[in-house]
Amino acid sequence: MQQVPALEDQRLLRTTSYVDGAWEAGEAREVLAVNNPATGATIAEVRTANAADTRRAIEAAHRAFGEWRRTTVKERAGILRRWYELTIEAAEDLAVLMTAEQGKALFESRGEIQYGASFIEWFAEQAKRADGDVFSGATPHTRAVCIRQPVGVVAAITPWNFPNAMIARKVAPALAAGCTVVVKPAEDTPLSALAMAELAERAGFPAGCFNVVVGNPQEIGAELTGSPLVRKLSFTGSTAVGKLLEEQCAPTLKRTTMELGGNAPFIVFDDADLDDAIAGALLSKYRNSGQTCVCANRFLVQDSIYDEFCERLVAATGELVLGNGADEGVTQGPLINTEAIAKVTGLVNASIEAGAECVMGGKPADLGECFYPHTVLRDVTPDMPVFRNEIFGPVAALTRFKDEAEAIALANDTDAGLCAYVYSRDIGRVWRVAEALEYGMVGMNEGIISSEMAPFGGVKASGWGREGSRYGMDDYMDIKYLCVGGLDR
Ligand code: SIN
Repeated sequence: MQQVPALEDQRLLRTTSYVDGAWEAGEAREVLAVNNPATGATIAEVRTANAADTRRAIEAAHRAFGEWRRTTVKERAGILRRWYELTIEAAEDLAVLMTAEQGKALFESRGEIQYGASFIEWFAEQAKRADGDVFSGATPHTRAVCIRQPVGVVAAITPWNFPNAMIARKVAPALAAGCTVVVKPAEDTPLSALAMAELAERAGFPAGCFNVVVGNPQEIGAELTGSPLVRKLSFTGSTAVGKLLEEQCAPTLKRTTMELGGNAPFIVFDDADLDDAIAGALLSKYRNSGQTCVCANRFLVQDSIYDEFCERLVAATGELVLGNGADEGVTQGPLINTEAIAKVTGLVNASIEAGAECVMGGKPADLGECFYPHTVLRDVTPDMPVFRNEIFGPVAALTRFKDEAEAIALANDTDAGLCAYVYSRDIGRVWRVAEALEYGMVGMNEGIISSEMAPFGGVKASGWGREGSRYGMDDYMDIKYLCVGGLDR
């Protein structure tokens, strides 16, 4: 069954890769069926790109880099700004397309389009601020000048959970810096990426600046990581794939940004404002059906409020509505595919077998192949699979702790270090705990912390590099030191 999403501007629905300013004919290429996870219906068939197409995209980006790096920051800012405006104008179509291929509730897709656009707008502004520095020289007749230059061709490998925003967060700073880009979007969600390329073309980016290749991840990934023309790889995805890509990038010593998996603790002390903590918990846990790297993965709750927190979380979670994300009133859509259902089911079942008590949900819902209900597990201990692994599903796992020291120890008992949350009305405690947490980001009495103005990124096995914020262009620029001599002559 084919069900093409109805868009006001049907030209946003592109089904071939975009290379060197042209939509690939894709003759004799394999076809990738893009399915709606809510209905199972095919919404489009995309002609895939192969290794040769990827090489052409890299070469086009390399040629375009020569010109693009020489444009003024004002010119680059102007085209980025236009791309932002076109995105906002097309927001509803982009959101409908996203819900059709990714499954998230329409209000979340609308939010993601605004979120993605905010990075384009931000880096259009930041383009003008990529300044250097002047330092004293080592001798009276020298001065040290540092200029910042674009690294070159950037490869961006992006995930399905945020099919628009993760591209915008990488591509906008790269283009603002004067780099050119080849994007490889996730196979589950190529349509949002191709729609972004359509709008980028309308905005006026010269051919070759922004390329999108859709297809087999191993084949395309090998080209992107192996090519000496690609100077930088930015990846968002699992830690396992990040390690593999890092190995593949080693022979050509590429710079990398790795935004990898998380295992976020959400710590609630007995002096927390519980209304606030429950509201934050819902947002942090169930955003995108639990499929974000920063979703609360482990609720660590102090002994004396543990039962009350659990009861209130179950009651509040009961208000959420699971269904087709395109339907009115639905707050949570399906998971991305049947592999995701199998993974979540496996983690939950194994944790229940190990002694966790399931107080809500706990089995796939019978709304379709990809639906998993809101689930709450209590009495979770550190040896259980839901504690040790990133769940990436709508499962809240609750563990007890006695005191501050134990909360910190439990929170840090993981390789991951992306995002953590801490709730307490004691400012000293919140500050102390936030400093002790081995994470790149901490929400202090706040369940959603992402913003184009703040640096997003992790430590430990969650990777390195920062996206967004005034640091977000650093990963796409080299610092060059110019020693200016002869001041005495
Ligand atoms: C992610 O899950 O990788 C991104 C989440 C966000 O930007 O908030």
